[in-house]
Amino acid sequence: MNAITAVKGFKDILPEEAYHWQQVEQLIRGVLADFCFKEIHVPILEKTELFAKGIGDTTDIVEKEMYTFRDRGEDSLTLRPEATASVLRAYIEHSMFNQGSVTKLFSIGPMFRRERPQKGRYRQFHQIDVEVLGSEEPQTDAELILMLVHLFRTVGLENLSLDINSLGCPACRSGFRQKLIDFMQDTLTSLCEDCQRRLTNNPLRVFDCKNDACRRLIQDAPTIPDFICDGCRWHFDEVKACLDMFALPYNLNPRMVRGLDYYTRTTFEITIPHMGAQNAVVGGGRYDGLIRDLGGPDIPGIGFAIGFERLMSLLHDRQDDPPPPVLFIAALGSEAQAAAFKLCNQLRLEGIRVEMDYSGKSLKSQMKKADKSGSLYTLILGEREIQAGEGELRDMRSSKQWAVPLESLRSHIAQ
Ligand code: HAM
Repeated sequence: MNAITAVKGFKDILPEEAYHWQQVEQLIRGVLADFCFKEIHVPILEKTELFAKGIGDTTDIVEKEMYTFRDRGEDSLTLRPEATASVLRAYIEHSMFNQGSVTKLFSIGPMFRRERPQKGRYRQFHQIDVEVLGSEEPQTDAELILMLVHLFRTVGLENLSLDINSLGCPACRSGFRQKLIDFMQDTLTSLCEDCQRRLTNNPLRVFDCKNDACRRLIQDAPTIPDFICDGCRWHFDEVKACLDMFALPYNLNPRMVRGLDYYTRTTFEITIPHMGAQNAVVGGGRYDGLIRDLGGPDIPGIGFAIGFERLMSLLHDRQDDPPPPVLFIAALGSEAQAAAFKLCNQLRLEGIRVEMDYSGKSLKSQMKKADKSGSLYTLILGEREIQAGEGELRDMRSSKQWAVPLESLRSHIAQ
């Protein structure tokens, strides 16, 4: 019988990789704490309507990429394709807006999108999702972007490309929408089928199309920044001025519209130039109408999500190994095995990294395992040693070996 394999696009994170993830996550958590963010856990499964309303019915994610099913013929449920809608649902459901004027949250976990798997694109992937709710000030936009750049530097990444844009507010966007439709009318039949449909449903999505012919046509199309109102222009100028205070380099990219419908005003992406098609490591932006659209009060918000797999692929050459055991216990004979089992687990309960092999194989085989584990010391226990209340301690680096009373073992292996 063939062994069962993982589902296409779903990836195992093996122990060494998981250890590296944990280390990077730790650094990121440190930065988030410095900027006063608190963690929130939200479910992986939500009602489908949350994402349809939140992300937008006519986005690629909602149209083609969600894992949606009927829960035993009842509610339509969806594995979350992103975290923003879920975090906002929780914020509204628990009236978190009553706790203070600005709420700063982050959430780390898996997301699910049924995209075509390729390098850097998975059907289950992980995001570090960050949201600030309750502030419309441009300083908040700049604070988030500044934190992101700092966060990347903290994990050891410098040469990133930061693109920013303003998508304006619904008022400035309606004028732009018409201009874009007018511009595209003459070339309508040259657009791909998807874009022809998008032009009536959601014209902005045309900027997202990967089709070469559409991309060429869109090159000369009008862009939103030419249409934004005075309020949105002032807001974006302030964001840029705050970034300039920290001499942060950024590209103004008027064609960046992002793939989700909820964005207003500032949007941003961090890309890695040599990473090919899947080169966005972070995407984010402001979504001032979303909390209201999801049934909450009219409160502004902004956030971003880092793609963890993509971030880790940039750091793969800097991987450290997990720390080896401090001690390996090799025991010969049933009496020594029983004493070793007790000692091994006693030391673990005291917080010392210890490993042993319960199979009762030969000393040679156990010493091989000790060597492979990378342990700093090996304690050899036989029946005679147990009777004498001692063991042979071997320093695996110098190969020196000496007898130690078991009660003073801890001081010999102390780090
Ligand atoms: P997004 O741009 O759809 O934004 O995703 C953010 C990041 O998740 C991407 O830049 C990428 O690194 C990673 N990502 C997305 N899809 C995949 C995939 N199939 N495989 C691997 N990595 C992937 C959002 O999800 C928004 N919720 C971000 C946000 C938060 N905006 C405001 N707040």
